[in-house]
Amino acid sequence: MNQLAPCSIDSLKEAAKHLKDGALVAFPTETVYGLGVDAENQSAVARMYEAKGRPANHPVIVHISDQNLVGYWADEIPDYAITLMRKFWPGPMTLILKRSTNAKDFVTGGQEYVGLRMPANPIALKLLSEFESLGGHGVAAPSANRFGSVSPTSASDVKEEIGELLREQDLILDGGSCEVGVESTIIDCSKGLPRILRLGAITEEMIEEISPIDSDSDLEEIRVSGSLTRHYSPRARVVVDRAAQPGEGLIALSDIDTPKDVNRLCTPNTVEEYARTLYRSLRKGDSEGLGVIVVIPPSGNGLAAAIRDRIMRASTH
Ligand code: TXA
Ligand code: MG
Repeated sequence: MNQLAPCSIDSLKEAAKHLKDGALVAFPTETVYGLGVDAENQSAVARMYEAKGRPANHPVIVHISDQNLVGYWADEIPDYAITLMRKFWPGPMTLILKRSTNAKDFVTGGQEYVGLRMPANPIALKLLSEFESLGGHGVAAPSANRFGSVSPTSASDVKEEIGELLREQDLILDGGSCEVGVESTIIDCSKGLPRILRLGAITEEMIEEISPIDSDSDLEEIRVSGSLTRHYSPRARVVVDRAAQPGEGLIALSDIDTPKDVNRLCTPNTVEEYARTLYRSLRKGDSEGLGVIVVIPPSGNGLAAAIRDRIMRASTH
């Protein structure tokens, strides 16, 4: 099948069955599209890694729709992590917790920690709860792009990235475009204080309202592929430190003018709109065959910092 499937309740029930039978199901979340498989099915996880072209020793986030499942996957959960879940789940936040014996090496990348997230998108939540009602405990899902490339924010982006690698029983659920547009905030909860591993829409300022943050920058003991310096890259060269020249692409907030003969890829009015349209605009630059895309990063804290993080990675070649 593997064409874009509509998202009626019946089709989500059907998709949950496919997951339970070991198929790959790409689904929308509020951040980006995920490429889901049963987190307890080793061969399905292996096939997902293969479709992504991702090294097997990278951990993958387990998605759940029910907070009661946290104890299935994780042990020794600190109080601040419980407060974070209560406050920001469902939402764009992934917590890294000490794994239980149920979290096998093939989802944790052999590490003692498991990543958990409850997404806010209603299609994702319904898919997960249907999967759980069939006896599943969680859906392992990385962003549904090929390793190192830009995360997909629409079903057609997913199809472009991995459509050809899907098999008969695999599905891409079409839930329109993602509301947030950049990946979830990842918070390491393995120590006495939360530590941010990847910036996202749950911001430093929001987390600080719950607990002081450990700003120790030594990330050695935890592997986060999104923290590889070069990541989230389009084919075009992304340039951040000069004005756009004729024939080049430009991504910038709407208060910045477009120089003559420059291909304006988007004109977001707000930081939220910037996050929502960034990846789509990078893809658009690629589909128009641009060699260079000049990106003028937004200033400020919060989501703007997450956008700058992704732009910096996209610009490292
Ligand atoms: O918004 C998101 O987080 C999306 C949607 C689909 O939920 N997912 C996503 O997954 O961005 P992915 O695999 O593309 O990026 C997740 C990052 C990876 O860099 C991975 O290394 C890290 O999370 N991660 C996952 N589990 C981990 C763990 N147990 N320990 C450390 N890092 C982990
Ligand atoms: Mg990714």
